[in-house]
Amino acid sequence: MPHEKFDIAKLERLNDVSRFEYLDPDIMWAVAARPDARTIVEIGAGTGLFALRFAEMAPQADVYAVDVAPAMVRWMFEHRPAALSGRVHPILADETKVPLPTGDADLAVMINVHHELADARASYHEVLRLLKIGGTLLVADWRPGDTGGGPPQVVRATAEQISAILSAVGFCEIESHDLLPRHSLITARKAAVCGTGLVST
Ligand SMILES: C[S@@+](CC[C@H](N)C(=O)[O-])C[C@H]1O[C@@H](n2cnc3c(N)ncnc32)[C@H](O)[C@@H]1O
Repeated sequence: MPHEKFDIAKLERLNDVSRFEYLDPDIMWAVAARPDARTIVEIGAGTGLFALRFAEMAPQADVYAVDVAPAMVRWMFEHRPAALSGRVHPILADETKVPLPTGDADLAVMINVHHELADARASYHEVLRLLKIGGTLLVADWRPGDTGGGPPQVVRATAEQISAILSAVGFCEIESHDLLPRHSLITARKAAVCGTGLVST
């Protein structure tokens, strides 16, 4: 699939809280349904806008804010509020390799990242590795069509296309939630019986 990385020069745009009007963290948090999560991993955290919000919503959790762009990770280190700095951990990753332990995450979150993945299958396979059995993945990304703003149409995928990749990689209980005005919103689960990554389409 074609993909396109975020232009670092536009970094400040990610901090615009008016984004919450159409990417409501409360909706995503409710759909993820992991209020007791102790380990949350956000892949493609950018400036950490959502990672910080989830850390506030889950005061018992450590939140690992993962990104491939050194400038983003540096920004998060330099700007995370002191009150959350002990629980929000910026992490520099490779495109499909995250330096975090296997089977430790209760919840993985990927917001506006699917259309940037160079190898979506490999990235989701890595997320499957990070999750505990029973752990949840939440994906939100721009729908194809006239949404106002967002990435070029050519890099956008439908909820069905994203779900098909998740299924192929080995996620279970894949559900699409029609709750966001501009984005597909998908949850999936790592289950013992289908989390092998051996299924292919
Ligand atoms: C459009 S920004 C979204 C940032 C954040 N999720 C938000 O919505 O505010 C996408 C981010 O994903 C990062 N990214 C792209 N591919 C990635 C990958 N394979 N693994 C981790 N991060 C990635 C980019 O560097 C960028 O910071």
